[in-house]
Amino acid sequence: MSIWRWADLIDFVPEHARITLGEGQTPLVRSRRIGPSAGLKNLYFKLDFVSPTASYKDRFAAATVSHMVAAGKTRCIATSSGNTGASLAAYCAAAGIQCLIAIVEGAPLGKLQQMLCYGATLYRIRGFGADAAITSAVFDLILKWGSEPDAAVQVSSYKYSAPGMTGVETVAFDLAEQTPTIDHLFCPAGGGGLAVAAARGFRKLVECGVLAKSPAVEVVQPEGNDTMATPLRDGHAQAREVTSTTRISGLQVPTVNDGHWAVTECRASGGSGHVVTDDEVWETQRRLARDEGLFTEPAGAVALAGALRAARERRLAPDAHIICMITGSGFKDPHSVEEAVAATAGAPLVSLEEFARLN
Ligand SMILES: Cc1ncc(COP(=O)(O)O)c(C=O)c1O
Repeated sequence: MSIWRWADLIDFVPEHARITLGEGQTPLVRSRRIGPSAGLKNLYFKLDFVSPTASYKDRFAAATVSHMVAAGKTRCIATSSGNTGASLAAYCAAAGIQCLIAIVEGAPLGKLQQMLCYGATLYRIRGFGADAAITSAVFDLILKWGSEPDAAVQVSSYKYSAPGMTGVETVAFDLAEQTPTIDHLFCPAGGGGLAVAAARGFRKLVECGVLAKSPAVEVVQPEGNDTMATPLRDGHAQAREVTSTTRISGLQVPTVNDGHWAVTECRASGGSGHVVTDDEVWETQRRLARDEGLFTEPAGAVALAGALRAARERRLAPDAHIICMITGSGFKDPHSVEEAVAATAGAPLVSLEEFARLN
């Protein structure tokens, strides 16, 4: 498995420079319970957490680190909320490239530990990821440092790392191969890169005659980071900056990044914007585990939370073919499952005798 099977459709990297850890070609599974109980007959999950570092960002890191290898770069300077950093750290380790990452203040433990294990150098910065001015200032610094000849700046968005983002477009190519009918693809959005990549990937398939028409790419955001979902839904031309208040790790992106493109390109695909509360996301995360056997971090449940909201608001046809991106693993954010675990009987330590008496 590798994104490089789609090498002809993504930004060119010579064969000798291509790095892979086995990313891409992730499973597509049909919902067994949540879809039917919401009146959605054809609900599917694209399991992009089934990936070398357990998030969809591996599609980006594989492509972008390969571009660095091709260009002879030896230092990667990045910003991340956690998953991009974990992916970059892994692919840089594989490529023998140093990796320094500026991390948002609220990054969860699982992601931090993963980055450290791969050998990355990390700095968590106060206010980064919440305050738009601090976030912009961090980007300015990173861009300055990254302009040195041996270095490259990597941020998982078209605005900063466009060639690498073509690696994320492979999700559309995978899907077109996996299923003949897709009406809606629901994507969680922080900076909007994933949604734009999906829309551009489908557009490429339409342009080369593989698909007759693009599916509607739907953008879902938590209401505490609504930079593009409401502007897209309400017909505005552009995304907007916000002060991020959401607690959903990965989606705390108060700046616009790829937001303007997400608004125009997802609208052109026929998609709309959807806003959900953090509580809805946590509840959906629990349902994915209990009702479908899918262990995801909160950001990975956002697309489904948006689809369920759209179904309640009667914005989806009951027989539409709907795919929700499940983008990151539950192991990334152990804190986010503490409440769900607290509601269970736990795992009491018992003696053999006590255990024998249980049944
Ligand atoms: C698990 C997960 N899902 C979704 C996203 C959102 O991606 P984007 O910033 O491209 O909109 C992120 C971003 O970090 C993420 O980590």
